[in-house]
Amino acid sequence: MTSETPAPDAILFLISQPYLKGKRLKALQASLTRACPVPCAVVRMEGREPGPMTALDALVGEGARTIVVQPVGIPFSDSLFAWLPGALAHWQRERGFDGNLALAADQIDDEAVLAALAQSSIDRAAEAKPVTPEAGSIDGAGWDEVPAHRHHLLVCNGPRCNFREAGPLRTVLAEELTRQGVARECLVATTGCLFPCNNGPVVAHYPAGRWYRLRDRNDVARFVSTVLKDGETLSQFVIHEVSQ
Ligand code: FES
Repeated sequence: MTSETPAPDAILFLISQPYLKGKRLKALQASLTRACPVPCAVVRMEGREPGPMTALDALVGEGARTIVVQPVGIPFSDSLFAWLPGALAHWQRERGFDGNLALAADQIDDEAVLAALAQSSIDRAAEAKPVTPEAGSIDGAGWDEVPAHRHHLLVCNGPRCNFREAGPLRTVLAEELTRQGVARECLVATTGCLFPCNNGPVVAHYPAGRWYRLRDRNDVARFVSTVLKDGETLSQFVIHEVSQ
């Protein structure tokens, strides 16, 4: 924040961590909310939860006029950090927000944070769990075969798609697959960024080799009924076709 920027009345903490269990995310949200002296939201950039735009809307709805967005994690992704100003500007423009919005620095540059991390590693060494050669194996039970499926769906869970609310749409897709009776025919994998982020939220469908943009619950419902059940193509949603 610059000296001209007023003190924040709300903080949006952004976490980039695809492999975080919901329970641990909730614990982190609770701890940060307790520790933060002003109202805050804690949002993961990859996940099924509502994304940053929804969180910003909520903070504004609670009366926030000066919001600082703080990336959390050491280091925070360079490419995400470079993309965030544009994404936040998009939200600001779209919502007509005329308060103050600022993006805080990556904590990799904060000597106090790094010193606290180093000291905590020493202070908590006694709590570290010893690892022995008998402790386990790299192979887990039940992870030997590909499950039977007719449709392979790669659902982008990358941060840019999630800015467009891909997280909740992943939940909607699971609901629609079950509701329309095709869940057992589908092998659904959530992926990192598939690259055409500007056309997100992105879902790739194989073996057909067509990639779709599915923006809301209606799009998802039509995709399941038309593409997966009826075997047709929803041309207006196709963003890429793999040449055979
Ligand atoms: S984040 Fe989904 S295509 Fe990049």
